[in-house]
Amino acid sequence: MSSPTKHFVNLKPNIIHTWLVNFDDKDEDAINKYYYLLSEDEKKRASKYKFHKDKRCYIITKGALRLLSERYLNIDARAITFDYGKYGKPDFSFNTNLKFNISHSGDILALSFVKEFDIGVDIEKIKDNFDVFEIASNFFSTLEIETLKKVPKEKQVEYFYRCWTRKESFIKAKAKGLSFPLDSFSVCINSDKKTELLETKWDAAEKHQWKLFTFSHQPDYLGAISIKGDIKTVEYFSFNND
Ligand code: COA
Ligand code: MG
Repeated sequence: MSSPTKHFVNLKPNIIHTWLVNFDDKDEDAINKYYYLLSEDEKKRASKYKFHKDKRCYIITKGALRLLSERYLNIDARAITFDYGKYGKPDFSFNTNLKFNISHSGDILALSFVKEFDIGVDIEKIKDNFDVFEIASNFFSTLEIETLKKVPKEKQVEYFYRCWTRKESFIKAKAKGLSFPLDSFSVCINSDKKTELLETKWDAAEKHQWKLFTFSHQPDYLGAISIKGDIKTVEYFSFNND
């Protein structure tokens, strides 16, 4: 991972940029810098959080999204406006071919940017205090559960998270949230090198239009990106505005 210049970033059409932010290393001065960037509505929403940790997460997420969008769009961070789709997916409220998606878990925020294509990102902090197959039976497809059963026990949690993040990034790219049936598609779970959709039951050919990526830049976290487009490269950066 690297840190490119603070100024305008030229995003090439066939590349995804994914930025990782650590919530935990931000002091009050840093939080204030992010807070200053928020819209009046976002400030109001921030004031409603009961727990300080959630408020910090909200302010850093919205602030980092504005600062990074500024670099791609060349528009002042405070002047950027957003719309939300029927199921809550945020997008820019003006005409641009820049697309983004966000995910946060534990202390890490991931923001992915790309030109033109529908994109979804998911990051999860890895826990191991749950029954893998109980959760899988509610969320995974038959093909995914069958594959998971063949994985050695000590690897099951890791493979579970590979599957979970890939599936969630896919439904986030589709923008329909959990209204999209999770058993109507299957992801491969056993390879980070050749990550792909294995089946899209509503249209057998759709799986060929998608690319999936898995990333793991922090211990205890696993992330995935789904993109509807022929993208071959994801570049990862760490973001720190302090
Ligand atoms: N589509 C895409 N992105 C969406 C979205 C939608 N319909 N609704 C919200 N988002 C974005 C927002 O930017 C949100 O962050 P913000 O509110 O801070 O701006 C971000 O996604 C949240 O993503 P994440 O951090 O990964 O949260 P989540 O895992 O709790 O929820 C949802 C993701 C809201 C999109 C939804 O799919 C959900 O509730 N999932 C539950 C988890 C699940 O069952 N996953 C199945 C995996 S097999
Ligand atoms: Mg998630």
